[in-house]
Amino acid sequence: MSDITRRDFLKLLQGAGVLLGISVVAAPVAAYFYPSKLIEMPSEPVLVCPESELPVGQAKTVEFGRYPALVINTEDGLKAYSAVCTHFACLVKWNPDSGQIECPCHDGFFKVADGSVIAGPPPKPLLTLATQVVDGQIYVKVGGGA
Ligand code: FES
Repeated sequence: MSDITRRDFLKLLQGAGVLLGISVVAAPVAAYFYPSKLIEMPSEPVLVCPESELPVGQAKTVEFGRYPALVINTEDGLKAYSAVCTHFACLVKWNPDSGQIECPCHDGFFKVADGSVIAGPPPKPLLTLATQVVDGQIYVKVGGGA
């Protein structure tokens, strides 16, 4: 068994540092050319819940591909949006008391009718999704406009 000298140990440490530095640069490059297989938005409708479980005034957040969707049963029917705030991507939530969609991160507020910004820093409306009811089951899917 050989003794490791201080010089050898420092060389080993230097090599590990160089490898770490290379990986810090190489990992993002590799991620760029080989993106993950995460599904951004599902191509098929996603089941939300039975109609009976979402009374008027209530909302449900469901997994919808990579990001969740917010489905709200309003007086004017079902509304669905991406639950990702257009400011810094916090998750928005429905406030039944105020009748608004709210982002708790920086006090962003959105209209439930069309997802447009009421107040706060979000630069754009929420991404609108579509809903459909089939055999008493609520589904959310891609579509629905802006
Ligand atoms: S992330 Fe929603 S308001 Fe900033």
